[in-house]
Amino acid sequence: MFSDKKVTYYFDSALSYVEKIIEKHKAIFLTDNNVYNKHPHLFEGLNTIVIHAGENTKQQKTIDEVINQLIQKEATRDTWLIGVGGGVITDITGFVAGIYMRGINTGFIPTTLLAMVDAAVGGKSAIDVGMYKNIIGLTKQPSFLLYDYSLLQTLPNEEWSNGFAEIIKHACIKDATMFEMLETTSIDYFKLNNEALASLVYKNVMLKSAIAQHDELEKGDRKLLNFGHTIGHPIETTHQISHGNAISIGMVCAAFFSSEIINLQQNLTQRIIALLEKYNLPSAYCFNKDKVFELIKMDKKRTGTNINFILIAAIGEGFIKELSLVQVKQLIDKHC
Ligand SMILES: NC(=O)c1ccc[n+]([C@@H]2O[C@H](COP(=O)([O-])OP(=O)(O)OC[C@H]3O[C@@H](n4cnc5c(N)ncnc54)[C@H](O)[C@@H]3O)[C@@H](O)[C@H]2O)c1
Ligand SMILES: [Zn+2]
Repeated sequence: MFSDKKVTYYFDSALSYVEKIIEKHKAIFLTDNNVYNKHPHLFEGLNTIVIHAGENTKQQKTIDEVINQLIQKEATRDTWLIGVGGGVITDITGFVAGIYMRGINTGFIPTTLLAMVDAAVGGKSAIDVGMYKNIIGLTKQPSFLLYDYSLLQTLPNEEWSNGFAEIIKHACIKDATMFEMLETTSIDYFKLNNEALASLVYKNVMLKSAIAQHDELEKGDRKLLNFGHTIGHPIETTHQISHGNAISIGMVCAAFFSSEIINLQQNLTQRIIALLEKYNLPSAYCFNKDKVFELIKMDKKRTGTNINFILIAAIGEGFIKELSLVQVKQLIDKHC
């Protein structure tokens, strides 16, 4: 239960079940060209808007395009906008549904592992402005989230890794048991074992939604979800690498910072690196430190000359530490 409304989760469901949740004639589906081309049968007979896939689409121009299509389709305040796609689609759907006619109904059907465990959960939606990621947005809970794991069969390998980057993040900040379990499993194991995948997704949705529900407006614990992102986002933007890869590098930097600031045992950083590598994620990258630092200064967690940085005290124990920007620059120069 969030402040404004209840979110219903349909785990282990199928996209066709939507027709049991809402009246079909009131629904407009929003998806991207990859999802549409990989699963054309899903959209047969559905009123669908297809936009171009990719992070570069998550800009105001696309919002205007989608809104124009909604007007052409005569969408009213009764209309449901249903996002079927990865985090780019669920963010755009949430954002448009939050502003079109001052808010219409929305539901998400996440089709990437990352969107299933993270982007679609929690009710935050944002878009980028030029280089600045997620800098404008709003908080609006979808009415429902529907999980159809069969959609993941077409997901490219690197997108599985991107999803595991957020899952490993959750384990690092909140769940040591899940961290240990991941050390004994692999991407292939979850691809072949539907029950294990369903259980992993469920665990991560519960973990994120519990944090988000408790702190809908990001005043406290929710900031922990930014572990690896303060450095990861600027790397993603300046070097055009995927979100999961960028936050993987960001998490390794944050682990090194933790070891310096609170004497985190060295072997814990090595365990984090080993786990990320097991899930085909990078643990080091030669990035432009000055450019990345320039973007860190624009981070939403900055307060004056300081920034709220997410560190870990142990596996499963994230905490917020206010660091000065000068200190962050020194740490980056030394450890990243
Ligand atoms: N709102 C939030 O709380 C939140 C949290 C985390 C991330 N995000 C946002 O989510 C985005 C990243 O999400 P993402 O990794 O899902 O990106 P994405 O939506 O770009 O999807 C990744 C790629 O996979 C393709 N794809 C999606 N589903 C597929 C399927 N079933 N089969 C084949 N291909 C498929 C997409 O077309 C795209 O090319 C970023 O913009 C990030 O800022 C938001
Ligand atoms: Zn992320």
